[in-house]
Amino acid sequence: MTKRTIPLAGVIGHPIAHSKSPRLHKHWLRRYGIPGDYVPLDVAEANLEEVVRALPKAGFVGANVTIPHKVNALSLADQVSDRATLIGAVNTLTFLEDGRILADNTDGYGFMSNLRQNAPSWDPKSGPALVFGAGGAARAVISALSDAQVPEILLANRTRPKAEALRDEFGARVTVIDWVRASECLGEAALVVNTTSLGMEGASEFRVPLDGLQKDSVVTDLVYAPLRTTLLQCAEEVGCVTVDGLGMLLHQGVPAFERWFGQRPEVDEATRAAVLP
Ligand code: ATR
Repeated sequence: MTKRTIPLAGVIGHPIAHSKSPRLHKHWLRRYGIPGDYVPLDVAEANLEEVVRALPKAGFVGANVTIPHKVNALSLADQVSDRATLIGAVNTLTFLEDGRILADNTDGYGFMSNLRQNAPSWDPKSGPALVFGAGGAARAVISALSDAQVPEILLANRTRPKAEALRDEFGARVTVIDWVRASECLGEAALVVNTTSLGMEGASEFRVPLDGLQKDSVVTDLVYAPLRTTLLQCAEEVGCVTVDGLGMLLHQGVPAFERWFGQRPEVDEATRAAVLP
């Protein structure tokens, strides 16, 4: 094993140029005066294992993992956290000095921490959550909401069988509802979450009618480009507390940075400003 001098970390993905993680971690490194670096690593699927095995020898203490490697990275780890096992995907690898690789998934943690910080009045046990989407991001959200003992998760996905598969996996708290009838459930939702790519720059708009939305609901969108999505703007007009998706990205980095660099970092306005263009 190479003797570590300046600790390095990075984010492995393909493509990777768009990732905000380098700005986030570099900001924290500067802020806490830690002599380390964090770099983007553009790695094709076929090279994932070779790169991951080489990183510790090159001085890396860990790496974030993003699309398309989040599922494949599971098999490279010597130890996988319970939450990564449950979500079925990895976003954080830690390289131990003894050569072992730990895998974790902090997306659900980031989702909940973002809500706790920006919608502190929301009580997870207060009522059902209405979740749009049944892809990878939805898995992290559903597992976090289940953990937080949200009484019921109403799950709507364009492709209904994918929602049914998540219900079968995550259990009794999840009720699948029809995508086209989801708006009928808005009245009972204490929390509304968009995990789909609808509303993202370059994607189609989120067009679910929001007439039934109640002003005491909290509405959050995992999309963060743009920051104020149409869903959040409509919810604001109704009077809802709204939480944008940038905070989830920032909070998911907290456990990784702490583990790699030994400092628990703050998420605040300065952190947000550091990652915005
Ligand atoms: P991620 O990892 O970001 O969740 P994903 O696994 O590709 O990405 O999931 C994308 C989600 O957005 C899915 O729920 C997808 O719905 P389908 O399962 O029906 O594909 C949803 N989505 C993407 N485009 C959509 C559209 N035009 N209308 C409705 N849902 C859409």
